[in-house]
This record gives sequence, C-alpha cells and structure tokens, in this order.
Amino acid sequence: MTDDVKPSFTPRFTIAIDGPAAAGKGTLSRQIAHVYGFHHLDTGLTYRATAKALLDAGLPLNDESVAEKVAQTLDLAGLDRDVLSRHEIGEAASKVAVMPAVRRALVEAQRRFALKTPGTVLDGRDIGTVVCPDAPVKLYVTASSEVRARRRYDEIVARGEAADYLSILEDVKRRDERDMGRADSPLKPAADAHLLDTSEMSIEAAFQAAKTYIDAALRTH
Ligand code: DC
Repeated sequence: MTDDVKPSFTPRFTIAIDGPAAAGKGTLSRQIAHVYGFHHLDTGLTYRATAKALLDAGLPLNDESVAEKVAQTLDLAGLDRDVLSRHEIGEAASKVAVMPAVRRALVEAQRRFALKTPGTVLDGRDIGTVVCPDAPVKLYVTASSEVRARRRYDEIVARGEAADYLSILEDVKRRDERDMGRADSPLKPAADAHLLDTSEMSIEAAFQAAKTYIDAALRTH
C-alpha cells in the first residue's frame, strides 16, 4: 500500500451536546454542524413530534403503550422545527419524555441517526450520558436561569409579541426541575463533558471554545 492511499470510508464522528432549555445549545449545534459539514439532529424535536402526533390523532398523552407505538413509527426526516416549537407542544413533549418506553424507541432512532457519515451533531438532554456515551466530543451548554429567561423574553419581544419576564423565569425553572428530576435519563453533564457556561459568553465565543475541543478530538480520531 502506498502512503497516499486513503481509506475508502471516513470514520464517523459524533458530537454530543446537552444542556437545559434556552442555554443556546440549538444555535451552537446548528453552527457546528454547518461549519464541519455534519448532520444535525435536535432530539427535542423527536419528543415534540411524538407528542404532536398524539395530540393530532386525539390520543391520550398518558398512555405509555400508545405513545410508544407512535414513537416507534416516527420519521426523523420530517421534523419541522417551526411547527414543533409551539409552547403547548413543548408542554406535551415533557409528559411523553418521562415514559421509559417512549425514550427507548426514540433513543434507538437517535442512535441510528448518529451513524451517518461523515459525522453528526446531536443535541438534547441525555446525548452524552445515554444516547451516545462513546461520542469523542461532549459539550454541556448551560447558563443561569435568569439569563436564559431573559433570552427567551427578548426573542418573543423581537417577534413583536407580548411577554412577561417573571412568568418566563418560572417556566424555565419548572422545566429544569422536570428535566433534572425525572427518574429515566435525567439531565446532567456526562463525567467527560466540557462545560460551556454561556451566561456571560457570546454565541461566537461559545463556538470558538467548542471548536477548540472538536479540533483537538478530530486530530486524534
Ligand atoms: O429541548 P426541547 O424543549 O425541544 O425538548 C422537548 C422536551 O423533550 C423537553 O421536555 C425535554 C425533552 N427531551 C428529553 O427528555 N431528552 C432529549 N434528548 C431531548 C429533549
């Protein structure tokens, strides 16, 4: 074999990004996927799509075996962020996200997605701990609840809608409790995750920090 023969495949590379709601992980994940040419999956959308399918079909949100069947047939290619980002779908998603059978079905689909070449970025709550525990780069993106509520508030106001900062802050805290307190796959940083606190960091600074970790891991991959 000569030195310039390249392997006929590119090894896959997975970047796992976790953190609480509104910490900036979605923006960061999309930017990373774009810059590195990797496929991106916002796993929150898989829980949201499962909840929306139940709501649309008039099915109950508290029947685990019905929700499991819906999760098993979910098509990851058809996830529409604009439709799924509605507040009431987020509320419904957090109810199905506590069901172990739903999580099993969705984690299986997420792991299949993570096999795509040349690489993938998955973001959610349990990517580094459960979905892709062997990912060569794990980031845990966080920010204070006040900063996250302020960002949500600014987003809503920028759309020309009315918003109440204190009720958004309550909402952020309630979602943290639900995400961190559930028995199955609670939100927590993996032991080997790099922490990125974006409370006082611009998205560009967060991206540069992430890039340093990713480039170092790519060199040894
Ligand atoms: O990030 P999000 O708001 O789109 O997530 C919707 C719900 O799904 C939220 O209750 C957290 C939950 N979720 C989860 O349990 N595990 C993931 N990997 C992603 C989201």
